Amino acid sequence: MTIDERQAPPTERWRPEPDAASRAWPGGAAGLRYGGDYNPEQWPREVWTEDVALMREAGIDLVSVGIFSWVLLEPREGEFDFSLLDEILGLLQDAGIDVDLGTPTAAPPAWFWQRYPDARPVTREGVALGGGSRGMASPSSPDYRRAAASITTELARRYGAHPAVRMWHVHNEYGAPVSESYDEHSVSAFREWLRRRYGTLDEVNDAWGTTFWGQRYGTWKEIDAPRVAASVVNPAQRLDFRRFTSDALLECFVMERDIIRAFAPHLPVTTNFMATNCPSIDYWRWSREVDVVANDHYLAAERTDNHVLLSMDADLTRSLAGSRPWMLMEHSTSAVNWQPRNIAKRPDEMARNSLAHVARGADAVLFFQFRASRRGAEKFHSAMLPHDGTSSRIWREVVDLGAALGRLEPVRGSRVRARVAILWDVESFWAQDLEWRPSVELDHRERIVAFYTALWHRGVTIDFAHPEADLTAYALVVAPASYLVTERARVNLEDYVSAGGSLVVSYFSGIVDGTDGVPSGGHPGQLRELLGLVVSEWLPHRAGETARLDSGASAASWSEHVVPHGAEVLARYASGPAAGGPALTVHTYGAGRAWYVSTTLDPTALDEVLAGVLDSVGVEHADSGSGLEIVTRHGDGETFTFLLNHADEAVASPVAGRDLVTGIELHPGDEIPGGAVRVLRTPDAAAHD
Ligand code: GAL
Repeated sequence: MTIDERQAPPTERWRPEPDAASRAWPGGAAGLRYGGDYNPEQWPREVWTEDVALMREAGIDLVSVGIFSWVLLEPREGEFDFSLLDEILGLLQDAGIDVDLGTPTAAPPAWFWQRYPDARPVTREGVALGGGSRGMASPSSPDYRRAAASITTELARRYGAHPAVRMWHVHNEYGAPVSESYDEHSVSAFREWLRRRYGTLDEVNDAWGTTFWGQRYGTWKEIDAPRVAASVVNPAQRLDFRRFTSDALLECFVMERDIIRAFAPHLPVTTNFMATNCPSIDYWRWSREVDVVANDHYLAAERTDNHVLLSMDADLTRSLAGSRPWMLMEHSTSAVNWQPRNIAKRPDEMARNSLAHVARGADAVLFFQFRASRRGAEKFHSAMLPHDGTSSRIWREVVDLGAALGRLEPVRGSRVRARVAILWDVESFWAQDLEWRPSVELDHRERIVAFYTALWHRGVTIDFAHPEADLTAYALVVAPASYLVTERARVNLEDYVSAGGSLVVSYFSGIVDGTDGVPSGGHPGQLRELLGLVVSEWLPHRAGETARLDSGASAASWSEHVVPHGAEVLARYASGPAAGGPALTVHTYGAGRAWYVSTTLDPTALDEVLAGVLDSVGVEHADSGSGLEIVTRHGDGETFTFLLNHADEAVASPVAGRDLVTGIELHPGDEIPGGAVRVLRTPDAAAHD
């Protein structure tokens, strides 16, 4: 087939189906998708042929192309050259490898920066960022939006009907490395955003409490972005600027998505999230706008609990996807190059990581990147094909993983079910993480990880949920760090519990409303009724100071003076600044119960508290402590049980079944070697749920 034929409009042979169902997943292969970012423009043409042959050897069937190719596709403004991409897509098509086509708008060309210097993002300190790198322009720059729309239109026009293109990958990791921009276009757009949100200037003044420190605004033009100032800047203003930034970036995504849809209405359009690792995007809002949720995940490699954090990231991604299949768009075969110490993955760790994502709902496993770069900032980053080529351990593992994923084809489309949810609301995290909070140890992420880890070790599968979402499906909802609770969330949580739900709340939750304002009547104003108590004083510990509970538990960084108003006291402080007062409580509210944990319990004590709650709400859980992760995916009349041994030593399997990957027949008590993964397929009647 010639290039011209490939560019021809769709024929009878290939007819697009412009409905939403066809956009839910990149069509083509029946099983789990396998591949990675592919940047052949960094290599001479001879290498491309070898690449494609090696991709076939590894079972790769989907690659992301063109993510950083703007300057090659548009070498001068308005002059387009698609010869390179034509050739690459043709090669891939001939090899039967599908393409996730990138729009290159995360790396504007040098000509763009030179011509439109005011599109440069500006930091909070007022530094306009330079070029010679990659990253977003100001999302509110009209020139950036026009240029991004133009290259996207040309790409979509040319490749919207290309048979190799099975999905579209807009931009790259919106929100990183640039999120908030303090340039003049952003300031104007912020004012417009405020007008839409609040209507009048009086409403803005009220919401921000601008009478404090004499900040009242008399005209819209007086409002600035919350740039660095002499002292702490109005926290409600900062919170709104974060909300605005997420929305401004989302507008850029939606603009490109809609252009692509006009030319390729049958194809999914997505962008790659960084679920637990992007501090600047409200993914709940974003996930409604993508056709399929795609996520990038890199291990916090030095941490010994990095497999638990991986699970947390995958669980959040699945939750963002509404439990539908999602794509692991990027992870690494071994070390990255941007951490303080870039720890290599040990033998088999790569596959265990990949399959841990699959266990939690991923139906696609892609890496950054196919062939290691020889030049540029990422030349020390691992790849599917490392610098030492096909003789490497990594390449052998890549080929083996491709074969394993092939055998896991029946898993495709099966779903993970969870009976417990953890509340996750990035707006609350934005507000909590501002300056002048009662203690630097009030770290929302630390608390979420603590609760998630305890539940992970109990083998409980977790969904994440927005506090305003429908929670009725959950036997238990946990709020480790819900500092900001909107009115709608307050009512939602009260309704959930009064209808029979169970809620566990940790300290420093329910403290402010949606505008970072403290409700009158005492903390935690938004959850006071539900918890049946008032916190009359926060008693943060000095560095290193601990307290004890009468249960023997130790409490690390935080105590409070809790005054019950209907709540029953389950444990008291035995020492520390709140000695004698209630530490753990439970309140019956309507037909349900709400527990309150007022302190930083040590991990064993937190585990005991949660195990007790799980028992009382009837959620099954395992004994804490084994390194064996067990997750179940439910298919049509059958179940897939993933057993992942994160320990170095062998562990006994608690269940029976035939491993889809190795064909090994496993009996209860049989050993699963250290580091190994088994995926047992069982008919529903025999399933281990
Ligand atoms: C991701 C990014 C990739 C690559 C990778 C390296 O965040 O999307 O382009 O830079 O990190 O780990």
